[in-house]
Amino acid sequence: MTSEFAVELRDVVKRFITPEGNELNAVDHVTMQIKNGEFFSMLGSSGCGKTTSLRMVAGFEWPTEGEVYIEGKAMGHTPPFQRKVNTVFQNYALFQHLTVYQNLAFGLEMEGAKEDEIKKRVGNALEMVQLTGMDRRKPKQLSGGQQQRVALARALIKTPDVLLLDEPLGALDLKLRKEMQLELKALQQQLGITFIYVTHDQEEALTMSDRIAVMSKGRVQQMGTPVEVYERPANKFVADFIGESNFLEGKVKSISKKEASVFIPALNAELAATPISEGIVKGEDVVISVRPEKVRVAEKGAMNQNMFRGKVTNTVYIGADTHVFVELQGAKLKVWEQNRISRLDPKSFYAVGQDVWLMLMPENSLVLKKE
Ligand SMILES: Nc1ncnc2c1ncn2[C@@H]1O[C@H](COP(=O)(O)OP(=O)(O)OP(=O)(O)O)[C@@H](O)[C@H]1O
Ligand SMILES: [Mg+2]
Repeated sequence: MTSEFAVELRDVVKRFITPEGNELNAVDHVTMQIKNGEFFSMLGSSGCGKTTSLRMVAGFEWPTEGEVYIEGKAMGHTPPFQRKVNTVFQNYALFQHLTVYQNLAFGLEMEGAKEDEIKKRVGNALEMVQLTGMDRRKPKQLSGGQQQRVALARALIKTPDVLLLDEPLGALDLKLRKEMQLELKALQQQLGITFIYVTHDQEEALTMSDRIAVMSKGRVQQMGTPVEVYERPANKFVADFIGESNFLEGKVKSISKKEASVFIPALNAELAATPISEGIVKGEDVVISVRPEKVRVAEKGAMNQNMFRGKVTNTVYIGADTHVFVELQGAKLKVWEQNRISRLDPKSFYAVGQDVWLMLMPENSLVLKKE
């Protein structure tokens, strides 16, 4: 490989003129460097520019500004078939009237490959996606997950250096999707191919990716490993979009490198918080973010630092966890407790109206810019 990066987007803008006559930056100054062999995801809600970004890498669209590089080479107006990438689309795009074998062989025949060679490569590709023996079926005679695997095999058969996947598991039910997530990830590791994966499903992105670019309105909000974007979200948007969070508004009373003390009007108290976003200063209006599974709830407590008294307003049993909702002065917090004990006895739950104590650990209370 000639370049450290498989794919690079440098300050890329894609501007569309909408039929209504407005200019829209669907992709707005995006810079991403995707390493060789990396499983990289673009994550964001509908319309944030994921597909447009991917299409510019594939060559179906050209940037209005900036440049896409593949293996260090500026792509300019290079057409899709001359790029060392292949795409798997959400709707499979299989030929319905052809068998699995014919679907896979098609691209190789177009390239003029010999029959022996085609046979061998189709066999290998089917083995890779665990569909050996299914070569005579037509797409309609396969389940959704199997069709998805055929689409994947078809993209892999040309041994691309980079595979682009646009919500490839979107049409599958939850259980099959989770299975396919792990299969895809294992396949990617085994083949050592770079994957650029588009999804709006944050759990999917966390499960599969080496790194994630969290996008909103055409811009990258944060880029990092799953642990980084979940444990250290760069701003309120990311904290809210990935997983769930409790947010408390406040004002920084004092701040050092290690710790901030933030006055929270809704609690009428100061809260100690240690992970501090860049550029936060004394006197600034901020938001504290605390993940619900990181709050501790107890029946007994004392007025210590970061401990607060509240009343249970609701408990919701959802199998693996119980969600406890607690009202503290002017704030409502959600707390998730793992059901390590049997919940068959109704008394194992906190009662509505019960007084409890909440413990917000300083290391789990993130100080974020208010925006
Ligand atoms: N050809 C086009 N002309 C005008 N606007 C477009 C065009 N293609 C996309 N857009 C707009 O650009 C924005 C980004 O679209 P894009 O398809 O990249 O979003 P996405 O993140 O893939 O969303 P989804 O999760 O719904 O697939 C949207 O507001 C969309 O309406
Ligand atoms: Mg899309």
